[in-house]
Amino acid sequence: MNVTPEFEPMTESAVRFADEVRAGLCRSGQKTLPSKYLYDPLGSALFDAITLLPEYGLTRAEERILRRHASEIVGHLPRPTLVSELGSGNGRKTRWILSALCVREPLSYYPIEISRAALASCESELSDIEAVSIVGVEREYLDGLREVASLRPDGSHLVVLFLGSTIGNFDRGADARFLMGVRSFLQPGDSLLLGTDLMKPLDRMLTAYDDPLGVTAAFNLNLLARINRELNADFDPRAFEHVARFNDAAGSIEMHIRSKRRQVIHVMGDAYSVAFAEGETIWTESCHKYSQQSITDLAALAGFRKQAQWVDSEWPFAETLLVAS
Ligand code: AVJ
Repeated sequence: MNVTPEFEPMTESAVRFADEVRAGLCRSGQKTLPSKYLYDPLGSALFDAITLLPEYGLTRAEERILRRHASEIVGHLPRPTLVSELGSGNGRKTRWILSALCVREPLSYYPIEISRAALASCESELSDIEAVSIVGVEREYLDGLREVASLRPDGSHLVVLFLGSTIGNFDRGADARFLMGVRSFLQPGDSLLLGTDLMKPLDRMLTAYDDPLGVTAAFNLNLLARINRELNADFDPRAFEHVARFNDAAGSIEMHIRSKRRQVIHVMGDAYSVAFAEGETIWTESCHKYSQQSITDLAALAGFRKQAQWVDSEWPFAETLLVAS
């Protein structure tokens, strides 16, 4: 059956999206959708707006750290380097690292993204740094990193950037397994620069993920609108609402989409339907909050040791330079 309006064959990534949406919505028990699908072109624009909200200090905190300490961070890295980034976003924070690094010698930068929109804005944001050649990799993180690692010239040092506390989107346990996956493509002495949001008072965390203007709500509900657009579903976003709550046991903010009433949704025409009870939720994202100790422990579990760490004082956030042991 054709599900795209122009009757094009589905790409591999469109098939994966369709499969993961179906698996998440048709589960018995808690329905889920992977947070990586929040970033279509509209979702990426809404996330950029989130980073400007006074209540959401995470991105600005990390940018302050990278801006203030770029030359010190770069001073820890052996040369020559090959830089890759897992989830480049719009590239704005990465500028500080790349500009400090390319003073030493020209370098290649490989951003890895499944969001084509994010990859395009990253490439245009950073294109003016002349000594850096940008090679976008439109893949899942570990597939992309495998490819980048295979391209490294002998004697070069691989630096992986994993910024923005994206690591916090993994479930507990899955974060360590993911970092082990990253480690498996590195050689001893290679580096991982890891950005992680730190635990802070509950009300500060809750308003960061449920802001008064409703930008985060729009970002979350856009996932339903995206499923309508790309998978021909009939969600009415007005019949759902955004929920942010803190899961104490996990130490994570959770984002959910809650059904305001009993309803049945059809996906891919009539290929399948999904029933919602009143108040039932789809769990769309976890945002784990770390302690400085938990970062070191996590890194050790995955085969890294801590070389240096910088913490923002206004908004508790840690940038940690890890070295593959
Ligand atoms: C980009 C994953 C760091 O977890 O804070 C922002 C995403 N979700 N508001 C986060 C997000 C809702 C964000 N990360």
